[in-house]
Amino acid sequence: MDANVALATPPVIRRADYQAPDWLVPEIALDFALDPALTVVKARLTVTRNGAHGRPLRLDGDGLDPVSIAVDGEMLADAWRMDGPVLVIDLPGDAHVVETEVRLSPETNSQLMGLYASGGLLCTQCEAEGFRRITFFPDRPDVLSRYHVRMAADKTRFPVLLANGDPVAQGDGPDGTHWAEWHDPFPKPCYLFALVAGDLAANRDHFVTRSGRPVDLAIWVREADLPKTAHAMQALKTSMAWDERVYGREYDLAIFNIVAVADFNFGAMENKGLNIFNSRYILADPDTATDADFDAIAGVVAHEYFHNWSGNRVTCRDWFQLSLKEGFTVFRDQGFSADQGSPAVKRIEDVKMLRAAQFPEDAGPLAHPIRPESYIEISNFYTATIYNKGAEIVRMLHTMLGAARFRQGSDLYFDRHDGEAATCEDFVAAMEDATGEDLAQFRLWYGQAGTPRIRADLEYDAPGGRARLLLSQLVPPTPGQDAKQPMPIPLRLALLGEPSGKEVVAEQLVVLKDAQAELLFEGVAERPVLSINRGFSAPVVIESNRNATDLAFLSANDPDPFARFEAMQQLMLDTLVAGVATGQVDHAPVVEAIAKTLADPALDQAFIAECVLLPSEAFVGDQLLVVDPDAIALVREGLRREIGTQLEKAWRGAYAGTAANHYAYTPPAKGARRLRTIALGYLAVSGAEDADDMAWRQYIDADNMTDRQGALGVLANGHAPAREKTLADFYKRYQADALVLDKWFTAQALSTRPDTVAAVRALAAHPDFTLANPNRIRSLVNAFAVNQRAFNDVGGDGYRFLGEMIVAVDQINPQTAARLVPPLGRWRRFEPVRAAMMRSELERIVAVPDLSRDVYEQVSKSLV
Ligand code: PHE
Ligand code: ZN
Repeated sequence: MDANVALATPPVIRRADYQAPDWLVPEIALDFALDPALTVVKARLTVTRNGAHGRPLRLDGDGLDPVSIAVDGEMLADAWRMDGPVLVIDLPGDAHVVETEVRLSPETNSQLMGLYASGGLLCTQCEAEGFRRITFFPDRPDVLSRYHVRMAADKTRFPVLLANGDPVAQGDGPDGTHWAEWHDPFPKPCYLFALVAGDLAANRDHFVTRSGRPVDLAIWVREADLPKTAHAMQALKTSMAWDERVYGREYDLAIFNIVAVADFNFGAMENKGLNIFNSRYILADPDTATDADFDAIAGVVAHEYFHNWSGNRVTCRDWFQLSLKEGFTVFRDQGFSADQGSPAVKRIEDVKMLRAAQFPEDAGPLAHPIRPESYIEISNFYTATIYNKGAEIVRMLHTMLGAARFRQGSDLYFDRHDGEAATCEDFVAAMEDATGEDLAQFRLWYGQAGTPRIRADLEYDAPGGRARLLLSQLVPPTPGQDAKQPMPIPLRLALLGEPSGKEVVAEQLVVLKDAQAELLFEGVAERPVLSINRGFSAPVVIESNRNATDLAFLSANDPDPFARFEAMQQLMLDTLVAGVATGQVDHAPVVEAIAKTLADPALDQAFIAECVLLPSEAFVGDQLLVVDPDAIALVREGLRREIGTQLEKAWRGAYAGTAANHYAYTPPAKGARRLRTIALGYLAVSGAEDADDMAWRQYIDADNMTDRQGALGVLANGHAPAREKTLADFYKRYQADALVLDKWFTAQALSTRPDTVAAVRALAAHPDFTLANPNRIRSLVNAFAVNQRAFNDVGGDGYRFLGEMIVAVDQINPQTAARLVPPLGRWRRFEPVRAAMMRSELERIVAVPDLSRDVYEQVSKSLV
């Protein structure tokens, strides 16, 4: 049966229904006769009954027809049956050998789950439930097996044959074929199985672990891409050393392989010893990849490598525990990236990401706790909540316990559960047992969805030298969770004296545990200003009685860089929100604060760049009860123009100050490039006559993609002749490089021009646009959907376009289609005319016959 066939009412899987597996599979031998059109898979499973029960063996399948089935060497005629896609076999004893044979067609597998073809190679993707598209198996993460894999394929077309673990044998076969055998000594769940066959070249390197174990490293790509693998290799070696130093974790096999593929649903996959990557997270050189791309590559390489412990050596008991590996591993990769450059800038980037992707999720119809209670399709739960909020919850443990005790907890967790399939509860219990900390209330963070709102009001009694801080928390209701309990909220806070800027109350960690609390501070001789949630110590929204003067003061004086950035953001946000409400914008405090920041010699350019950018239109919308995208755009654009015009000299100064910057991938050079394009953007909105020319010059003279893409992005918003010239040049230059051409689509999809919907429609008909490649879909369609102004064009064609895309992509790749749904699911937040159009688009989609479970779940939940 095809997974793309919607069941009348797709079953809901519940966390509470978890049962240990009836049968275990300690060993599996797989034999692949690989061919893009027809691959034969023979599987030999050693199965053992788990506990005293009489239930049959149930092997998951998806789109599989058994060609033959044998038990203990005997062909079975009637002791098996199909229960839908599941193969059911009655077994008399407690231990048997079950053999099956199935046929696959990788080249027609457009879902990119299971065994599929990408750019001439064959590869697999099994997480979460793709292994059942390869062979019949108990496809659940708590069944761990030792894998023996044999592959045979045409030697010319597929000279390289890779699988998990170590290569044990290879040789030539008949008819121009060859074969290889791999053995993985570590028992693993089937979602970590992988193989790759193709014409690939390797960038090889070497790493020696702390205990002296040598590891051969290889990054496999198409021969022509070899020069673009140096950065990823460097990141891999740095990650391996980092995990030894920071977490005491060494690599455990003699080989670590990474393969880059062009067609991939997500970022990358941590298959044991054989990571498979979306090529956008491997390939980079200065001419084709931006600084952000380089950073993302290092972060994803580290993330997948770190999974070797947080994910593979200790895996998940069931998919409700997904954040156990993902939240923890994101926390680990964030720490790694912070250590490579500026921790402050990295923290700002991570918080921006959380606010852009996770806060809206928490505030919408698809809100779920980091450990969900139920799902229809697990692929829909690879979300910003599971990943990024999950990381914030681990970070709060780190903050509350301190680095040393957190490390004791993680050591105990790894030691206790090595080789096991664990739960979120196991993680918290290890932290508790190692440190003696009582985390009973903290567990609420795993079960309650929604972003807590913290009210923080400071009162000052000047004559008495006393300050009083009133704190309260409210966790808003989310689908299925009307009433919430107060959670422990770790708030790093201090009071800054104004005007001295000195801490009149030194930083402390306050954990707000109750609905309300009151803190008293004595001996406060100077008017105090509240600096709170420093470092974004809790993933919450802070509302306070700080006015524009207080925020401006903090933005110039707070010694905590995140809090300083945050004060500026809050000042901008308050200004914009008031502007939308009243139609009047008080530019002066923002303009002045930006001027001060630009002129502060103590700040580095990367940090300045983050501080001087206005919050996105979408983030402004998130603060409002009813979103009117045009009103927000008008007010924000007006403020941008003021900042551009009034500070024109400063922007020109910043631009000139970054001109001599020759390409280097170093934090200062990256900061200079970032500030340069931001300055260019402000000059462009200021209406400066030479701005288009400056942008063209920046584009054409650039010695790197960051400057080039920056200039293109600025020009894409305008109407200057340079715009078309630049877009045409970019297309001509990079047409053959799919990853760079993605940027060409994105620049146009993100444009602030009023004709963007029509432009995006036209681009969807461009010969280089294809629904077969998820990166290309994301580059145009997902990018367009985050362009608040264009997507919500009042004509409604943005919604219609997205709806059409969802339905079209669903026929090809349900996972990628489902990820297009959330922007429409936000309909409740919009003014009535748009809300009605969005809703009716969702209704149109849900009525389409043969919808996948993936899209069905997202659309139906969005309509409730
Ligand atoms: N487990 C992968 C990661 O986060 C993500 C992924 C999920 C990739 C599902 C493919 C499919 O590292
Ligand atoms: Zn991951």
